[in-house]
Amino acid sequence: MTLSIDWPCAALDNAPLAQRTNLRVGGSVEWLLEPSTPDELREAWLAAQEHKLDTRILGGGANLIISDGILPGVVISTGRVRRTFRPLDPGEVIDPEEMTDEQAKALFDIEAPVIAADDPRLIVWAGASLPGLVHAASRLGWSGLEGLIGVPGTLGGAIAMNAGGRWGEMWDVVDMVRVLGPDGDFQDIQKADANPTYRNGGLGGSIVVGAVLRLELDNKRRVAERAREYLREKCKVQPVTEASAGCIFKNPGGPKAGDDDSGKISAGRLIDELGLKGLERGGAVVSKVHGNFIVNRGGATGSDVFGLIDELRTKVQEARGIDLQIEVKRWR
Ligand code: EPU
Repeated sequence: MTLSIDWPCAALDNAPLAQRTNLRVGGSVEWLLEPSTPDELREAWLAAQEHKLDTRILGGGANLIISDGILPGVVISTGRVRRTFRPLDPGEVIDPEEMTDEQAKALFDIEAPVIAADDPRLIVWAGASLPGLVHAASRLGWSGLEGLIGVPGTLGGAIAMNAGGRWGEMWDVVDMVRVLGPDGDFQDIQKADANPTYRNGGLGGSIVVGAVLRLELDNKRRVAERAREYLREKCKVQPVTEASAGCIFKNPGGPKAGDDDSGKISAGRLIDELGLKGLERGGAVVSKVHGNFIVNRGGATGSDVFGLIDELRTKVQEARGIDLQIEVKRWR
């Protein structure tokens, strides 16, 4: 039975989680906390620690598989910590937490009429949607994020796992990241002090609360055209519009496995070559478009998906002697 706790932000008990992920599987959590500022997020995290509860952070749920049943403890959603600002003056970065709502709305909210655009930086809170950011940058005529078009999720998740693909990675445009460190203090990490690698932002267990992104001044038409072109290409080879958790496995050959002349192996190609596309369990099926995606064609459960992952790993191990490593995050 869930205890009654006075949380420092919006809170739901026994909250269902499936609809908060792209794959749409999984059960519920004892407590779902929904802070709306970085400070509230910090307070929520500290309160969960004080009650000695397991604590997980939920961004956009784009790369996450949740098991069925009830997760113990707390999930803190960053979904409402989602604002985006522009620096006040070139060279001066405004701390979003010190800005009043009115200032933000009037001057720095990218939804407001466009202001002088010679400083292509954005201050973004962790829960801002990545597709929204890609779109906003394109509208401003700023280049650097268009390679992430079609990648779902939030800024925080994209930074933590260095999301990306053939046309670029999240950390390509990161200047500085603000995290909540293990002792509950905010820490600012400059790009030069971070060590992002393939699908790993290099931040350890720290929680991303926001970042300063540095883009490049470009031309609206050119940026939008590149974004459209990348999305067209992506739609040909990935099940972009279906319910999935993105790529399930890391490429055994590393990031360049997609290059035909690299001699490295792509997990999707491996699964395809073994004839495993279309393999299914309950409502979960290995995508016929790309072998490294599992899609929920309706009614899938967490155990369908986990079972299918185990089966793929076993079959690839038996046939090719390769131990596929899982890229997607799992809560079980
Ligand atoms: N291929 C097949 N059959 C398949 C899938 C792929 O033959 O079912 C072949 C392709 O034709 C291509 C090669 O395998 O020659 C590589 O495929 P692709 O270009 O689709 O790239 P990938 O290595 O499978 C990576 C990332 C994706 C990213 C794409 C495009 C990983 C694990 N995956 O996929 O990232 O979108 O490149 O840039 O690094 C993700 O991380 O969630 C993700 C989807």
